[in-house]
Amino acid sequence: MSGHEIINPGLGFADVPESERTKHVHKLHPYLGKFIPQLVEHFLKNYFKAGDWILDPFMGSGTTLIQANELGIHAVGCDISDFNCKIVRTKSEVYDLGAVEKEIQSSLNRVKAFSEERFSSNRTGLVEESKEFHTESDYLKTWFAGRALQEMLFYRSIIPEYEHEDLLMIVLSRAARSSRLAAHFDIAAPRAPVSEPYYCYKHNRICKPIQQCLKFLRKYSKDTMQRLREFRDLRTDAEIHVFHADTRTLELEHTLDGIFSSPPYVGAIDYHQQHIYAYELFGIERRDDQEIGPKIGGKSKRVRDEYVNDIAEVLTNTKRFLKPNAPIFIVAHDSFGLYPSIAELAGCKILNVQQRAVTSRTERETRPYNESVFQLVDAS
Ligand SMILES: C[S@@+](CC[C@H](N)C(=O)[O-])C[C@H]1O[C@@H](n2cnc3c(N)ncnc32)[C@H](O)[C@@H]1O
Repeated sequence: MSGHEIINPGLGFADVPESERTKHVHKLHPYLGKFIPQLVEHFLKNYFKAGDWILDPFMGSGTTLIQANELGIHAVGCDISDFNCKIVRTKSEVYDLGAVEKEIQSSLNRVKAFSEERFSSNRTGLVEESKEFHTESDYLKTWFAGRALQEMLFYRSIIPEYEHEDLLMIVLSRAARSSRLAAHFDIAAPRAPVSEPYYCYKHNRICKPIQQCLKFLRKYSKDTMQRLREFRDLRTDAEIHVFHADTRTLELEHTLDGIFSSPPYVGAIDYHQQHIYAYELFGIERRDDQEIGPKIGGKSKRVRDEYVNDIAEVLTNTKRFLKPNAPIFIVAHDSFGLYPSIAELAGCKILNVQQRAVTSRTERETRPYNESVFQLVDAS
């Protein structure tokens, strides 16, 4: 491997409590495969200064952009998943929080009234035909109990009446994710819906499938307000720009002081599919065919070769916007050792590689592994 390798135990952040790893808007919506903010902060503090411009070409849920803002660094992010862009715009918007709170409370009150009228046990007579919501989505019909689905569809129907539509979508999407007929120990990537009580490995007891969405809407409405308030008190005036695009062909007007990013790894995660409930609920357009290295494609030699070309294409395209000698940081679980070839193909030099220990935190996956932080520079 070119560039010298350093084992850096300080980059594991094993002693950082969960509440800090998921502080303020970072946990506005779940997202599988995100950075811990402390890792981003470490590099941004050491290599950049307030007023600089950085790019995250695989922005995901926007950890780089939010941490950059905290430090007064302007940030540009790009992602192929429209839903991820919604998450990041929602996290980064400057809000009038009084107005937001009114809307969140109003929509919550309305879904509560709907649910009480529709599902209370002492309800008399049959439900009017007009109050029954319908969906064409087989996914929604399969993965949600009848009551949860009605509550979700009602909430969705009132969102266009409010100014902060994207924010309400994020609250609803988060609640929908928690309301799926998924076993508690299988929330990150559930395999099959559970419709009967089941033995729960997470709680060591028999658990029942979720019937309601309302209780999650209540919980996340409150949590969203709290997280937005916490970030408001930390945010700076630094700019945040979000692009929904394929990074291989991204065009930018800014000159950049660096790149900090974590690309998709080969055959690890399907980034559109992990939020299928949101895509189905809101009818958002998917661009799966442009996703680099999806899990569904596997890890064959052909796929790995394609991956090398794709990531090299991203670097070749985005380094055009960098100032001379600007650092490029790539965080990767490079189990196939592909990054030296990627760097060479993109005309970049690896200056060093720092290894960090990662403890995975999904319900089933607990095996620790090493992640590399490559520091590259344009060699042309
Ligand atoms: C490892 S994740 C980034 C996570 C991010 N660091 C965070 O903290 O949330 C990689 C991201 O790359 C995106 N992606 C995959 N192919 C892409 C492409 N061709 N153009 C832009 N983004 C892409 C995926 O949608 C995914 O969100």
